[in-house]
Amino acid sequence: MSKYITTPIYYVNGEAHIGHAYTTFIADTMARYEKLKGEDTYFLTGTDEHGQKIEESAQKNSKPTQEFADEISATFKNLWDEFEISYDKFIRTTDESHKKGVQRAFEVMYAKGDIYKDFYEGHYCVSCETFFTETQLVDGEFCPDCGRSTNIVKEESYFFRLSKYENALLKHYEENPDFILPRSRANEVINFVKGGLRDLSVTRTSFTWGVGMPESIKDDKHVMYVWLDALMNYITALGYGTTEENMRYWPASVQFVGKDILRFHAIYWPAFLMSLDLPLPKHIGAHGWWTRDGEKMSKSKGNVISPKQVADVYGTENLRYFMLREVPFGQDGDFSQRAFIDRINSELSNDLGNLLNRIIGMSGKYSDFEIDSVDVLKYHKKEIDAMNVVLDSLDAFMQNFQTHRYLEELWKLFSIGNKAIEEHAPWVKMKDDKKDEALATVALVANILAKASLMLHAIMPNTTNTIADALNFAISHESYNELIVEKKLLKLFNIKPVPPLFPRVEEPLMAEAPLAQPNITKESVKAAEQSLCEDDNLIEIGQFFQTSLKVGTVIKAEEVEKSKKLLKLQVDLGEEKLRQVVAGIREFYSAESLINTQVCVVANLKPAKLMGMVSEGMLLAAKDEDGLCLIRPEKPKKVGTPIG
Ligand code: MSP
Repeated sequence: MSKYITTPIYYVNGEAHIGHAYTTFIADTMARYEKLKGEDTYFLTGTDEHGQKIEESAQKNSKPTQEFADEISATFKNLWDEFEISYDKFIRTTDESHKKGVQRAFEVMYAKGDIYKDFYEGHYCVSCETFFTETQLVDGEFCPDCGRSTNIVKEESYFFRLSKYENALLKHYEENPDFILPRSRANEVINFVKGGLRDLSVTRTSFTWGVGMPESIKDDKHVMYVWLDALMNYITALGYGTTEENMRYWPASVQFVGKDILRFHAIYWPAFLMSLDLPLPKHIGAHGWWTRDGEKMSKSKGNVISPKQVADVYGTENLRYFMLREVPFGQDGDFSQRAFIDRINSELSNDLGNLLNRIIGMSGKYSDFEIDSVDVLKYHKKEIDAMNVVLDSLDAFMQNFQTHRYLEELWKLFSIGNKAIEEHAPWVKMKDDKKDEALATVALVANILAKASLMLHAIMPNTTNTIADALNFAISHESYNELIVEKKLLKLFNIKPVPPLFPRVEEPLMAEAPLAQPNITKESVKAAEQSLCEDDNLIEIGQFFQTSLKVGTVIKAEEVEKSKKLLKLQVDLGEEKLRQVVAGIREFYSAESLINTQVCVVANLKPAKLMGMVSEGMLLAAKDEDGLCLIRPEKPKKVGTPIG
């Protein structure tokens, strides 16, 4: 059976950020994984170029819209090429074949009676290209998604009979509980549909930068609504309405989207497909947001991290590894350089890199780099069995996009290898004249590394090619079959020494967001000292130490019902029991982004009650007009470490 994997198509109103890179990495990983297994796989990405938002961005940049779209679209394509994203097609919604396909789809839906003409009056958010009802608006005016002002727009419009598909959609969700993954996201979609679907306005007359009406309908005033235009890319890319050449890949096996655009993909898109009599995708995989200091990263907030900058200093494949290992699929993740460096040093450099160095070193010393698997099963049956259990468990994680679990499990292989070396101490065996035993342990580890490289290949393609090269084999569908499916061992070969693959990173390699530096002069220092001495608010050091400040790790975090501000945390301060801390930080941090992060806690405050809940401490935080941020240790510290 063939596989079809898609990313959303990216708006061309700004350059790619870490969030976009994540969607692309996960889709690329899936595509590479399937291709290695030998599946006939098609991987699509591209850019979404129509609509008022793009028109306005072009105007702001004083460029003709098409020229502006060309430029930004190229920045995405170039970045993906630089990152060696293995897409089979990069679609642009300004491609002629796409426009023809969308028009064809419109005709089919119109002919079926699923599209009709009427008037629309509603509150329109230009930024989100979406109409909202009065009750959906915040404070009667603002967009519930992005918070910007909406405008009242009344226009003639064509409507898609979305309401007609309400029951069919609900039935589909029920019969296909894995349609939306992770399953925890399905409820919000189901509730939205159960709340009643209104027909969807699918054309606009208020701007012109869009796909025009099909000739057969002859209504030049209208252009297509961007979401109708954009969603169709997933089939026009396969030739829908034109060549049809790759339609055999439809339906998609998985369509990756961020949680903010899940509704479009899990409601509108399947309804359009039903209207076109096409099957629905197998899965919509909705991932969480990458946040910075707890806030969603977005171009409009200006808090974005450039994936190119990060990749330039830390390496693209390290970045892929970090992003796919750090967050459970579906949850939000905070991008922290510290966490990134820790994973490079402990997981890539120590666990994987050192294991490779060790066997290069040992095989060089003991057997002139020759590796022979002949005695592996004789001395290491236990390890081979354990390795096969891990290898057999991996596919299920990948099929659910749980890349963090997949990698966590995969890393068990390196523990098996390291433990075997410690337990069997080949250097002792060599001294005791048991060379075949010593060489069997080295060969065991070589096999572990070979199989692990195959399974890591989709995430770190070049790094694993280098490892495979050192182990004298090439990563391919054939070697996958031999070493993974048929569970064979490596044939006799000579290992090729390679330089360490993952140099340790001692200090952050990138400056954090630059802070404004005050202008420090001798005079300003003197003035500051003087004003300090005159200040009668000063305290003695002993008074300061009356406050017990400690480092803690957040173990659990949840929202407090009926409160917009409060989160309830369980914090490990190294004491017998976890401390419950109720903190007014919900507007700035999501509960899930706090789990497993460190905080600084005032630990000797009298317990207080907040909304009926006991709070046994207070978090240190700094707040200014830009918002609040938690004060955290710069490097991970043991829980309970005193601060001062
Ligand atoms: N053009 C639409 C998608 C149309 S698909 C038929 C769009 N484009 S986007 O450029 O705004 O976003 C593209 C993808 O990036 C979305 O899946 C979105 O969720 C994702 N991300 C944008 N910001 C993000 C983060 N901060 N973190 C993770 N992904 C986020 O929406």
